[in-house]
Amino acid sequence: MNTDSKHLFIRACFQQPVERTPVWMMRQAGRYLPEYRAVRQKYDFITMYKTPEVAAEVTIQPVDIVGVDAAILFSDILVIPEAMGMELQFVEGRGPQFPNPLRNEKQVDALRKIIANDHLPFVMDAIRITRRELQERVPLIGFCGAPWTLATYMIEGGGSKNFKHAKEWRFARPDLLHRLLEKVTEAVIDYCRTKIEAGAQVIQLFDSWAGILDESGFKAFALPYVKRIIDAIRKPEVPVIYFVKGGAIWLEHLMQCQADVLSLDWTVNLGKIRGQVNGKMALQGNLDPTALYASPNTIRQLVKDMLYQYGSGEGHIANLGHGILPDIPVDHAKAFVESVKEESQAYH
Ligand code: CP3
Repeated sequence: MNTDSKHLFIRACFQQPVERTPVWMMRQAGRYLPEYRAVRQKYDFITMYKTPEVAAEVTIQPVDIVGVDAAILFSDILVIPEAMGMELQFVEGRGPQFPNPLRNEKQVDALRKIIANDHLPFVMDAIRITRRELQERVPLIGFCGAPWTLATYMIEGGGSKNFKHAKEWRFARPDLLHRLLEKVTEAVIDYCRTKIEAGAQVIQLFDSWAGILDESGFKAFALPYVKRIIDAIRKPEVPVIYFVKGGAIWLEHLMQCQADVLSLDWTVNLGKIRGQVNGKMALQGNLDPTALYASPNTIRQLVKDMLYQYGSGEGHIANLGHGILPDIPVDHAKAFVESVKEESQAYH
């Protein structure tokens, strides 16, 4: 892709030269920040993301407090199923739940086609407010759940230990699973396009549960839909990142996903994957989120190890391998970000 952004983060996504490695953290707008918890005391989670001014405020917090090189819009992947007609509840201590999970084809057929501008206006307003308030200090990431990961939540009704229901569909009702994935894919395409129009400068697709699939399941139920989304939303200046937790074992298939950036968890060696990817995609990641329990000095050493693994040159965005945990001390998050900023200069 040919674009010359002034933002380090966007340049790194396109494997263009940068003076240091850009860094941000998945789930950076969240509970480890006392400033987030102060806002959260006033509103429940769903009210927060449905109120554009509040969503914009907590989106910008980690930019001001921790110094990350990108903002990610405060929202949730589950706004899509909600907009498609599924009731969503946030149960304190248990996270988001669908009280009526999908159990049959009638429910799948009843899911409505979404028009993101009409059904999710609060997201677009939050993007516009955030862009205005950020004033190009850092770019704004808009995100979406990948269809397979969204489908698991819609079928299970919430988080799950073994994803029994979703995997039952994968093996016993592949037709119904495809029908659901088709509908979700259409919704995701409209949603991402509308987010870009509203001002999202990068799109990240979260496939947090790709790794629970088997190889042929990944090839049939996850990857083709992701590929279709990326093809449909592609704009030359807007990089697309695919976060595929547990999916790097299928790297040969992932190479066809068409994303600009592959976001990896901590189970893989960045250098090895870089060798295999061979310039086809930039890489994002991949410090274990629990590594941030270590002391700031140890965090610096772990960051050095991560940067050394990737090696010198372009195409790395430093991040965690999954979201930051709610009880990480803010100083440790800052140590991660500052260490990347300082230690990475030697590699560019
Ligand atoms: O990265 C960011 O800072 C932007 C905001 C963001 C949230 N959720 C806010 C949130 C993003 C990118 C997400 C994505 C998301 N949401 C995913 C994919 C990424 C991942 O972590 O795997 C998934 C699976 C969800 C669904 C979800 N939302 C769960 C399972 C939970 C409960 C677990 C938890 O972390 O509390 C949520 C709630 C949620 N989403 C919170 C936040 C800040 C916590 C809300 C609170 O209690 O204050």
